[in-house]
Amino acid sequence: MPAKVERLASALAQGGAPLFFPDPPAPVTFNFDQGIAAEETFPLEELKELSARIIDRDEGRALEYISFDYDKANDDIIYISSYIELVLGHTGMREQLAQWMGAKQGIDWLEADNYILTSGSVQAIAMAINAFLDPGEGALVEAASFPYAMRFMQMRGADMRAVEIDEHGMVPESLESRLKEFVADGVRPKFLYVIPTFQLPTGVVMPLKRRLRILELAEEYDLVVLEDNVYGDLRYEGEHLPTLLSLDRNGRVIQSSSFSKTVAPALRLGWMAGPKELIGALAAVRQDLGTSQWTARLMAEFLAEGKLEPHIERANEVYRRKRDIAVETVREHCGEHVTFSVPEGAFYLWLALDESVDWESAQRDASMAGVFCRPGEKFMGAEAGRGFLRIAFSHAPDHELRRGLAALGKAIRDNVKQ
Ligand SMILES: Cc1ncc(COP(=O)(O)O)c(C=O)c1O
Repeated sequence: MPAKVERLASALAQGGAPLFFPDPPAPVTFNFDQGIAAEETFPLEELKELSARIIDRDEGRALEYISFDYDKANDDIIYISSYIELVLGHTGMREQLAQWMGAKQGIDWLEADNYILTSGSVQAIAMAINAFLDPGEGALVEAASFPYAMRFMQMRGADMRAVEIDEHGMVPESLESRLKEFVADGVRPKFLYVIPTFQLPTGVVMPLKRRLRILELAEEYDLVVLEDNVYGDLRYEGEHLPTLLSLDRNGRVIQSSSFSKTVAPALRLGWMAGPKELIGALAAVRQDLGTSQWTARLMAEFLAEGKLEPHIERANEVYRRKRDIAVETVREHCGEHVTFSVPEGAFYLWLALDESVDWESAQRDASMAGVFCRPGEKFMGAEAGRGFLRIAFSHAPDHELRRGLAALGKAIRDNVKQ
């Protein structure tokens, strides 16, 4: 009998389409779809030199599951107490993260055990959802948000509800209304997923007053708050704002991030930071054999030698330049048919198209011209997402940004309804 996946796949696997982004109908000439760090920022020489040095220094230990030590004179492996690394990840990396983030975010209580290392921050988000949400419990997300986080909440069977956002991010009054609705419906609200700095996909930053109000509501309703800070360090203009993790006084905020956007996605090195008890809950749902010792050792050394901050500064110069090119070209070619705010950091322009533009045919023309962007529907559902477009300007070379956004502008102008 031929295998039939409908009979074999679990309810979870059959519970919805996997998150994938279909290939465009025509060859892609201008890829503004994925939010990827610019290849020109990858620290190739530094990583090459460090890799050789770490192999010379640590030899085979760099390639183990966990830290062992080796006594060459006696030809003995020395077991040091490092089994915790199977769960939390390489200790040296976690120590470095604690120092770097502690200094950068002004947090004085961070130590190695306030971290769990993960394969990119997406895994950290997935583990947090498993750690804090039971099926049927209430989860809150911004009305436009990171599709992977939303998909994990759905897979967990959470009751997920959307909180309004505006040009200052999540609206606290809307959060309060949703929380009251949960209570009125007899649902326990439990988990808030929020991107306060360079929100995805809108790029907006939440002001301090809202951050504080959201923490007050979290306290009042006894929530766990997951602050996604994956873009937080990519600020090329304006002042850094205090993170929710740094403002929290009640031990209910955890913060996810990674090196994917600041250094290189192939490292697949992310983390969750937070109070030890909450990190312990993530550890309790981890059922793999941890993250790579190799990339952790590499990045621990990168941090220890003070290479990360100057690297981020150089990368931010690149993104500022690309942002300026994107803004100028969109203004010139899309003109009065789109509105957007100019982001002070990260990778994206979030365009709202004028109602006079025929959305479907503008998208079709753009993709036939080889322009690949991500439509709003991917972040906020079919109805609400219509007429919004996310442009990732981070990855494309400058000349492609200019030519591709000019082609997008033409597709938009050609489809203004009479
Ligand atoms: C908002 C947001 N969070 C998290 C991630 C996760 O990336 P990674 O798993 O590479 O850290 C992304 C990547 O696009 C993102 O946009």
